[in-house]
Amino acid sequence: MNRDTADISLKTQLPGAKAAALVARDKKVQAKATDCYGFVRALGGWAEGPFCTDVDGNVLLDFTGQIGCNPLGYNHPEITLALEKMSHTSPVKFAGTDFYAEWQNGLPSPTDLKEKIIEATSMFGYEKVFLSNSGAEAVENAIKCCYAKRGKGGIGINFKGAFHGRTLGALSLNYSKRNHKKGYPMIPNVVTIPYCGAEEKDMNGLHHCNCGFNVRDKKTGEVMSVLEQMLRKGVGVYDPEDIAYIMFEPVQGEGGYIVPNEHFVAELKRIQQTYGIPIIADEVQSGLGRTGKLWAIEHTGIVPDLITSAKALQVGATIGKADMFPTEAARISSTWGGGDIINSIIGYKTLEVVMRDRLWENAERMGNYFLNKLNDLAAKYYCLDGARGRGLMDAIEFDKQADRDKFEAECFNRGLMVIGCGYKALRFLPPLDVTQRELDIALNVIDDALKAI
Ligand SMILES: Cc1ncc(COP(=O)(O)O)c(C=O)c1O
Repeated sequence: MNRDTADISLKTQLPGAKAAALVARDKKVQAKATDCYGFVRALGGWAEGPFCTDVDGNVLLDFTGQIGCNPLGYNHPEITLALEKMSHTSPVKFAGTDFYAEWQNGLPSPTDLKEKIIEATSMFGYEKVFLSNSGAEAVENAIKCCYAKRGKGGIGINFKGAFHGRTLGALSLNYSKRNHKKGYPMIPNVVTIPYCGAEEKDMNGLHHCNCGFNVRDKKTGEVMSVLEQMLRKGVGVYDPEDIAYIMFEPVQGEGGYIVPNEHFVAELKRIQQTYGIPIIADEVQSGLGRTGKLWAIEHTGIVPDLITSAKALQVGATIGKADMFPTEAARISSTWGGGDIINSIIGYKTLEVVMRDRLWENAERMGNYFLNKLNDLAAKYYCLDGARGRGLMDAIEFDKQADRDKFEAECFNRGLMVIGCGYKALRFLPPLDVTQRELDIALNVIDDALKAI
């Protein structure tokens, strides 16, 4: 089988008997986390690009992209070749903030990965990176860096609909689902404001929106952003010096693939520049070419003070200019941070391929094609409220959550893997090098599944 001619091929109903057996075994021992459906990848079985074989011999089309963790698709030849070159060595993880290691056969080491990350953020003039295990840790370290730099009041600003991870600090900045936070104590001093995604124009072509980001101030009568209202001397109750950071997803991920509108991001940039408040761009889901630029924040014109990355990068990374990081020893550290040999190879190779092949250009081209088709479907089926996205970070919005869930199951039954986000949206994350042929296979299934519901 090869990717150029491959198609969805089902030998059993999904999940098949072997998949169902593995899922049942796993459920016995796995503490309840998210709900995953019954796809069981056959490790070592045929898989290429978005196509993947399951343990029952079915070939499925994976448009979940492992929620952004698999940007080059399955078995990318440059990654598998690099892994084959790995000599047998143990341990494959070491205490990376205490020790160093380097391959003797040209494979990239954790230091090479760090240099590559700095190269990948050269448009922002970044100089330093701190590696960790996950997106949540990248976020935790970013907010620690901001607290350390800003001192003073330690107030953080987050957005409605935000998702930044599940450790308690990152969790405190989430505002997308009640279950994430229910009953857990939060870090104090987080102020939540609206995330302005609606690009609405009135009959005169003037932008307006009712998300609450812009308000009419009672004292001055002026219309201004909530941030300006909070911070302006004589109007606001917060001293800008007390704000440690603004935590911002350049496209909201778990919140529903919400693309910010240009007026909103222009205002964030103005606030950053006027009041000197650091912006952390959380690129854990949107980074590495997914949205049609290497970093989604590039769409906004904002130069973030820190970027958090993970998922596609395979390791967590907090990246920024040198003056954003503490200089004293042990203010930030992590046992496995920068000591993960295998994931450093994969992260490096992923960045190398994305940057060399400028895969964000394919993401933009194919994303435009896909989104146009999704918009056509939204016009055709009344259960859809619309389609949106940037590059290959796209979603459709259903009118009811039950329809969304049913659609996800109908797609799976037909061999297309997709996954929900927000309350009633469904996201698509094909590999960054996806072809039009592969998108068309998915679109046929999507059309069919919509018809079924
Ligand atoms: C924007 C964003 N930030 C942070 C995280 C947390 O990443 P992790 O699950 O690797 O801790 C996620 C995960 O979905 C994310 O989408």
